[in-house]
Amino acid sequence: MRNFELYVPTKMIFGEGEIKKLANEVPKDKKILLLYGGGSIKKNGIYDQVTTALKDHDFIEFSGIEANPEYTTLLKALEIIKKEHIGYMLAVGGGSVIDGTKFLASAALYEGDTPWDILSKKIRTYKGLPFGTVLTLPATGSEMNSGAVVSRSETNQKLVMGGPGLFPEFSICDPTVVRSIPERQLANGIADAYTHVLEQYMTYPADAPLQDRFSESILQTLIEIAPAILKDPSDYKAASNFMWCCTMALNGYIQKGVPTDWSVHMIAHELTAFYGIDHARTLAIILPSAYTKKFEQKKEKLAQYAARVFGITEGNLEERAKMAIQKTEAFYQSLGIKTRLRDYTDSYEGFSQKVADSLTEHGMTALGEHQDITPHVAAEIVEMAY
Ligand code: NZQ
Ligand code: ZN
Repeated sequence: MRNFELYVPTKMIFGEGEIKKLANEVPKDKKILLLYGGGSIKKNGIYDQVTTALKDHDFIEFSGIEANPEYTTLLKALEIIKKEHIGYMLAVGGGSVIDGTKFLASAALYEGDTPWDILSKKIRTYKGLPFGTVLTLPATGSEMNSGAVVSRSETNQKLVMGGPGLFPEFSICDPTVVRSIPERQLANGIADAYTHVLEQYMTYPADAPLQDRFSESILQTLIEIAPAILKDPSDYKAASNFMWCCTMALNGYIQKGVPTDWSVHMIAHELTAFYGIDHARTLAIILPSAYTKKFEQKKEKLAQYAARVFGITEGNLEERAKMAIQKTEAFYQSLGIKTRLRDYTDSYEGFSQKVADSLTEHGMTALGEHQDITPHVAAEIVEMAY
């Protein structure tokens, strides 16, 4: 196993009815900015629960953070933070609202020329404006990690940022919020969490059987609960397990001491940047081609995953490893997610070169656990995904 450091300071408050605990978690001696998205929280009762819990707090609101949070929208919130001397933020939403809040946490204290530097120059954040979250959509794990992804559609960019100053102080995860999530977003959440695990698992054997089994258990649980959650999101048993799987998939634990890949995410982000395809769907498009392209390097772990997650024991190692890729694609499809780029757009002519150029521009020229996925290889993977 490799050496590692683990620092995850977020307090998790999990379970039905826990949103009321905001009253004690959010500081009363600071001006609060409550941030949310397009308004789903007003329809499903979460807004009412949050504002009731904050009745003795001094807070103002900023709404309209869109899916794939937009830099230009966030700049408007940044203006309010500065003008109103905001001292604490509360993000109520899915990955987009939480990520947008992380950007603001960093930008509020940033002293450089333009907050765009944080993204374009990959500036890590060691101290941010403090914030907590109320998670409304299990998927990204953003509620318990220090990463964020921000989009700038005017320039077709979607860039990552992060740093130890960007962990939420607390996150409230009430699985009953899952009840109002549309089927498309439920499928996205399952697929995103599933892929997060694979990005940290599907590399090469690294003498870390505990991390392997952590990962395999999350994958198995997601496969197990997927039909139940899609059929009935108010099924508390399924919803609570779905929610905790998504958090555990990307809170840092399973990646400690092992090599990680993340090339699928980095290539897939370009599909959202250029075509606006949902994040999880871009992963389902790219992953089968990426694993086919890197088959030789990944085949041992693919075969292990085939046996332990899908119970495939017939055939030689290569055959079992190939079956694992097919089974993964079939799992995405079982969620109602299409897995080819042509299913989403006809205008993919020349796109693979654009991806290569964009990755080069952003310094992502050596992706994957072996750092051997160059922009050229990434372009080949995109072509295979048509
Ligand atoms: O905006 P509202 O009206 O709230 O609607 C949202 C949004 O339209 C809706 N929604 C959320 N909770 C709901 C609900 N609708 C009904 N009931 C509820 N309880 O769902 C829609 C999608 O929300 P969004 O936050 O965009 O989804 P998700 O959580 O999948 O986040 C996606 C973003 O996170 C980034 C992605 O790239 C993308 O920008 N990621 C962040 C990561 C991280 N910080 O660690 C890692 C991921 O790999 C990912 O890249
Ligand atoms: Zn993801």
